[in-house]
Amino acid sequence: MGFIDFTNTSVTYPGGLVALKDVTLSIEEGEFVVVVGLSGAGKSTMLRAINGLVPVAGSVLVDGREVVGASQSELRAVRSDVGMIFQTFNLVNRSRVVNNALMGRLSKIPRWRSLLGLWPAEDKEIALQSLERVDIVEKAYIRASDLSGGQQQRVGIARALAQEPKIILADEPVASLDPVTSHMVMRDLQRINRELGITTLINLHFLDLARQYGKRLIGLNDGLVVFDGDIADVNDEVFRGIYGRAITPDDLLNEK
Ligand SMILES: Nc1ncnc2c1ncn2[C@@H]1O[C@H](COP(=O)(O)OP(=O)(O)OP(=O)(O)O)[C@@H](O)[C@H]1O
Ligand SMILES: [Mg+2]
Repeated sequence: MGFIDFTNTSVTYPGGLVALKDVTLSIEEGEFVVVVGLSGAGKSTMLRAINGLVPVAGSVLVDGREVVGASQSELRAVRSDVGMIFQTFNLVNRSRVVNNALMGRLSKIPRWRSLLGLWPAEDKEIALQSLERVDIVEKAYIRASDLSGGQQQRVGIARALAQEPKIILADEPVASLDPVTSHMVMRDLQRINRELGITTLINLHFLDLARQYGKRLIGLNDGLVVFDGDIADVNDEVFRGIYGRAITPDDLLNEK
């Protein structure tokens, strides 16, 4: 048994579209996994299946807990272990950076305290430490909207870290960033994985980024896992299996 176990896992959306088809694979604690595939292949669906955000059948075990058929409180427990990072950062733009990082602590304190902004000192400390880990603590008291895209994504990562998660799920975390900033954010995610041992799954569009930072690659095509292995083993044939065509400059960030 791994840390995240998909066993005959399928996701069928209301309306009948099957976005993930009979996936069986295991991810070990501390792994850094990159997921690639064409638009619509099921990458986001696969990440969302891990914390039960989509209608999932079969079995998904997260740290030994079953997500399929879980109660709301069981799902809350799983979700509190999972930090999410988004393409569009999903920050509260009018709030200060530190308050955005504190959002990662929401599930840890009573709701009335967060509503009144009465954050315990310990939670504030964790939020500031998380900002420090991605080197953005000097912006703690600035509005999120006054940061650059790369800085905003660092706050997104800090918010996930403030949750003290066991798993980080990053859905195209660099798709809104320029190449230089993309590399910075990928290096942050890689360093966090190594330093803290947080199991990390990242959906990526660019194959060279995947190759540079990832080790294990999962390739999805129309909801099916068509490749699961070492990125070093990705050749033209594997690429065709995932994308249905040969590699083009559009698939590479460094060609931009
Ligand atoms: N809430 C939903 N309801 C119905 N169909 C959905 C829903 N979300 C996604 N889908 C469909 O499921 C399939 C997989 O979608 P998903 O978002 O997982 O793909 P993706 O690989 O993340 O694509 P992209 O690279 O564009 O983000 C697509 O055909 C999509 O249209
Ligand atoms: Mg997606």
